Amino acid sequence: MKIVSSIEDLRDQLSGQLRTAFVPTMGNLHEGHLSLMRLARKHGDPVVASIFVNRLQFGPNEDFDKYPRTFQADVEKLEKEGVYVLFAPTEKDLYPEPQEFRVRPPDDLGGTLEGEFRPAMFTGVTTVVLKLFSCVQPRVAVFGKKDYQQLMIIRNMARQFALPTEIIGAETFRAEDGLALSSRNMYLSEAERAEAPALYRALNFVASEMRAGHLDTFELERRAMLELTSRGWKPDYISVRKRIDLQPPSAGDLAQGTPLVVLAAAKLGNTRLIDNLEI
Ligand code: PAF
Repeated sequence: MKIVSSIEDLRDQLSGQLRTAFVPTMGNLHEGHLSLMRLARKHGDPVVASIFVNRLQFGPNEDFDKYPRTFQADVEKLEKEGVYVLFAPTEKDLYPEPQEFRVRPPDDLGGTLEGEFRPAMFTGVTTVVLKLFSCVQPRVAVFGKKDYQQLMIIRNMARQFALPTEIIGAETFRAEDGLALSSRNMYLSEAERAEAPALYRALNFVASEMRAGHLDTFELERRAMLELTSRGWKPDYISVRKRIDLQPPSAGDLAQGTPLVVLAAAKLGNTRLIDNLEI
């Protein structure tokens, strides 16, 4: 595997490649990331990964400084997956001058759910993803469904800018007890790690009630939040939304069986976890 940090070297390595499959990451790779690499390999060749902890998508009081950085271990994992090039730019490589041009998602999609609690995040994500796409020029790019709203925003961005990159969503990789794998799980204490699958259980509660025909989403969300609160969590939201645009479903949508997803974010101790489940 070639490891490059400058945009120039990356372009040299990839010149003439027309079927590149790209997986952008912030490192601290776990099985979930590796499953994205495997999916990428099915959709293109060569597979290119990036590791870049993108300051633009962290709020002032968020975990940019303490975000886990495990570069050597990540390199070994990517080598085993047969990744061809790892693009690991420094901040100077990717942002040699202040990144004043930004891509701002529309408010109805970027300002809801995560956007309500982390207002700077999606502009930071779309800006870096567009820039990474411009560097790698991938034919396909793979993103996990665990970050459901992120995936949808990137898909819409790619469509509206007519980017030549197909966006592929990968199923969420879960531990045996249901917890979605995430780099932030490593902040959890042993006791919190044992408690953490309660978030997925809360999503399953809402989804199974709805599948059984109980369509009072407001009441289901309220009960799921209450259950988490009673276990010591601080939920930001548990919310049933339409898959197509992440807006709340109307009574008509519910009656017609419009495809839905339930999304959640909650704090356990100092760690904020997110997850979702398609209904
Ligand atoms: O999902 C992530 O790890 C990040 O948001 C991404 C897409 C790599 C952009 O920094």
